[in-house]
Amino acid sequence: MADKYPWKVAWITGASGAICGEMARRLADGGVKVAATARLSEALERLAAEHANITVYPADVLDPEALKESAARIGGELGAIDLVVAGAGMYEPFDINDVDVAGFGKTMDLNVTGVMNTVAAVLPTMLARRSGHIALMGSLFGYTGWPGNGGYGASKAAVINLAESLKLELHKTGVDITLVSPGFVDTQLNASYEGKKHFVMSPQRCAKKILKSLPGKPYEIAFPIQVALFLKTARAMPNAIGRAMIRGFIKAMG
Ligand SMILES: NC(=O)c1ccc[n+]([C@@H]2O[C@H](COP(=O)([O-])OP(=O)(O)OC[C@H]3O[C@@H](n4cnc5c(N)ncnc54)[C@H](OP(=O)(O)O)[C@@H]3O)[C@@H](O)[C@H]2O)c1
Repeated sequence: MADKYPWKVAWITGASGAICGEMARRLADGGVKVAATARLSEALERLAAEHANITVYPADVLDPEALKESAARIGGELGAIDLVVAGAGMYEPFDINDVDVAGFGKTMDLNVTGVMNTVAAVLPTMLARRSGHIALMGSLFGYTGWPGNGGYGASKAAVINLAESLKLELHKTGVDITLVSPGFVDTQLNASYEGKKHFVMSPQRCAKKILKSLPGKPYEIAFPIQVALFLKTARAMPNAIGRAMIRGFIKAMG
């Protein structure tokens, strides 16, 4: 039996991708009207063709005006947006011997500014209605630095900080915020990651875990729990101990 959700209308960016596409399907199965955003592509159109509850609103998340127009259209056509999932994102490898400054900039633009553009498109209406739920896709790699992750990790650390600020500012506004930080998920996004991948999960399992917790409106959803605890502990330790923990993990696990 399909899960039931507390939202009537959900807007998802990155919906043509693996994790957010699966979230769109699950929400649609649960009766939620899903507005699916990514740049126009066959993958996005295929997603909409799968389910009567999924409608595409193609847009580039780097274009704040296009996102504002999409948010207004969704509100008019599907109803007030109760949930937004800012999921569009990318990974670029980071090599200290040949730093790809352009790739770093693209990663920061999409993973940080793209998220902010999405939030900015829904916030005025949510604040006016005193209701709404914003989910930001972070990553466990945002909690602490990691070899090979200088760009992606920095962008996700920025998302974590953004979520912390929004959580403080949205207090008592009626608008909720959730930071979603999964570990490795088996998707195209991290295909160019050169390190060893640990505790890898499928996009289906990832989407299921997110949607199991998200209705409770927690501030944070971070998993796998053992990896989240390890990285948060490394972060909380004095710097030298945190770095020793990470080096020890890499030595032991590859
Ligand atoms: N995979 C992992 O291991 C993992 C782990 C933790 C967190 N995450 C995060 O989870 C989110 C989804 O990851 P995923 O693995 O499912 O990625 P994915 O399959 O590669 O999907 C990425 C999505 O972002 C969209 N996108 C990229 N550039 C865009 C733009 N300029 N405007 C609009 N949409 C754009 C893509 O659509 P188009 O390119 O067609 O526009 C696609 O829908 C990301 O934020 C990622 O950082 C992933």
